[in-house]
Amino acid sequence: KPPIIVRDFAAALGLKPFKLISELNQQGGFASMNSTIEEAVAIAVAENHNFILEIKHRGEAAEKKVVQEKADPEEEEKRNLESRPPVVCILGHVDHGKTSLLDRIRSANVVSGEAGGITQHIGAYQVEKEGRKITFLDTPGHAAFTKMRARGAHVTDIAVLVVAADDGFMPQTDEALKHAQKAGVSLIVAINKTDVKGANIDQVKTQMQQRNIAAEDWGGETITVPVSALKGEGIDTLLEMILLQADMLELKANPKAEASGIIVESEIDFGRGPMATVIVQRGTLKVGDALVCGTHYARVRAMFDDQGRNIKAAPPSTPVRIIGWSSTPDSGATFRTAKNARDAEDQAETERLRIRQVATRAASAPKEVSVDQLF
Ligand code: GTP
Ligand code: MG
Repeated sequence: KPPIIVRDFAAALGLKPFKLISELNQQGGFASMNSTIEEAVAIAVAENHNFILEIKHRGEAAEKKVVQEKADPEEEEKRNLESRPPVVCILGHVDHGKTSLLDRIRSANVVSGEAGGITQHIGAYQVEKEGRKITFLDTPGHAAFTKMRARGAHVTDIAVLVVAADDGFMPQTDEALKHAQKAGVSLIVAINKTDVKGANIDQVKTQMQQRNIAAEDWGGETITVPVSALKGEGIDTLLEMILLQADMLELKANPKAEASGIIVESEIDFGRGPMATVIVQRGTLKVGDALVCGTHYARVRAMFDDQGRNIKAAPPSTPVRIIGWSSTPDSGATFRTAKNARDAEDQAETERLRIRQVATRAASAPKEVSVDQLF
């Protein structure tokens, strides 16, 4: 019979070897990395960790197999978590270079290097840096961010605050900063237009200090990268810093779950009907999936990436354009997978009725307008 070795068994259970060793020793053993475990003990330990140890005897050879039991969903979810790309938005004052920066990043780092191909503006795109992906929200930054936030959507992980080196902090810079802080997203400051006459990086850093977001090299904690969107300088560093920040955030999602995510924007496409750009947050979205988003529903007829290519599956943090909607869903709204198209339609209808009831009830009550709506 092949022996069950501590080292291998720990790996099979997804445990750190020392954890397993200490567990075994608590039962009065003297286990080490290479010691063997008795079958009965191994079965008991496996059970403790929600596993079943299957041992099949076939003549001389015995086959050991650790089988995952239908563990409780929380454990299962934790086990299935995988790291996912960061979702980044770019905020800043008018004319400080948000669009230029997004364009520059995109043209230099298109996934699969098909720069020069037909790039479509789908409200979000993905680039690759050192084999790792980064998702950028490419919507009129501020407005979209605010709209999504107003709906309580947490789609952004990292906000890049663009500050022009010649202008410094302006009213909308502060506004954007406030929103990012309120949303609890991590912040990176890109000091742009470092090429222009009158660029003053230190002045921007002073202003950061005054706002309690001192730059790292000034004894603070805010990653700050001088860039020139025009000349393409500092862009690589910026992307590296985004990845570094993403590592620190340990962004994870379960790609095996049923897909859910956020609508970035939607429109009616002549010929293809209602279309929505979404970012998958959890699970993997597939062609044929039935989706429900408030009073709207869809059976995913086709999906396209940011270069207009047909794709069949979209894992977490992927921006995709979906056709097959009943009508255009609202940006910032959350979609989730339904059992089937019928179920999606039913859920949307239920939501429609619920809203009508609430509206009837609220008709007599005074209206409240939130600051976010006014913005
Ligand atoms: P809005 O969308 O209107 O808020 O502006 P924006 O923040 O998207 O700025 P945009 O990228 O449109 O840039 C505004 C102007 O600044 C354009 O004329 C750009 O060419 C110029 N610009 C952007 N980045 C740089 C830079 O790094 N250096 C210089 N010299 N000019 C830049
Ligand atoms: Mg712009």
